[in-house]
Amino acid sequence: MNSLHPHPEIPGNDVVDLRACRDTFRPRFVERVFAPEEQEQLRLAVDATVLGWLFWAAKEAAYKVLSRLDRGLPFRWKLFVARIAEPEIPLPAWLKGQLIHPAGSLNLEMELTAEYVHVRAGQKEVPPGRVALLPPGKDESVAVREMALEIFAGRYGMSGRIEKRDGLPVIYSGDLCVPVSLSHHGRFIAVAFF
Ligand SMILES: CC(C)(COP(=O)(O)OP(=O)(O)OC[C@H]1O[C@@H](n2cnc3c(N)ncnc32)[C@H](O)[C@@H]1OP(=O)(O)O)[C@@H](O)C(=O)NCCC(=O)NCCS
Repeated sequence: MNSLHPHPEIPGNDVVDLRACRDTFRPRFVERVFAPEEQEQLRLAVDATVLGWLFWAAKEAAYKVLSRLDRGLPFRWKLFVARIAEPEIPLPAWLKGQLIHPAGSLNLEMELTAEYVHVRAGQKEVPPGRVALLPPGKDESVAVREMALEIFAGRYGMSGRIEKRDGLPVIYSGDLCVPVSLSHHGRFIAVAFF
């Protein structure tokens, strides 16, 4: 029987390959996906597309945290509201923000480059994470798991294996059971865990 990871928090992360995305948002998409205050920020933004993908990744990363706490949580885009203090920082940038949802507020840390956006989310602390290029020809789910286990070995000094528990990925190693957040999109893979 595996004991729980001593760190009590749940990690979330999401990477978006900006070259794999359309470079403008259609008005109906904006209306369907973004909350009114996000729409207002998008209207004022110098680069609304990058800000929009940042909001999108924040929603997905937050869903990965909150849906572990409530497996029945419905995914309603507009209920996940991203707040980013200074969205006009030039690229590349590291940004902080919050994600507000009726089920709870989360802290966000975001990396913004010309190639991708990556968002990590946590309830109090934000989990450390990493983005890497998907090795050519390699299956994305295999590659992201290998990267997670490599980071785990470096951090904890132990090998582990990734399995799904209640349908969601965790790293098992000895008595440890560590929830891990996996993400893959286009040319990139990304992980985050405590
Ligand atoms: C779960 C979800 C957020 C994954 O995001 P995504 O951008 O599609 O894919 P990512 O590559 O970032 O993440 C995929 C990984 O997340 C993990 N994952 C899947 N569901 C998860 C969940 N509920 N919580 C945490 N992690 C989850 C999986 O391990 C998966 O990796 P794998 O396929 O290699 O096993 C996505 O499936 C989603 O958006 N679900 C809600 C869909 C929905 O209801 N849409 C309605 C639109 S109105």
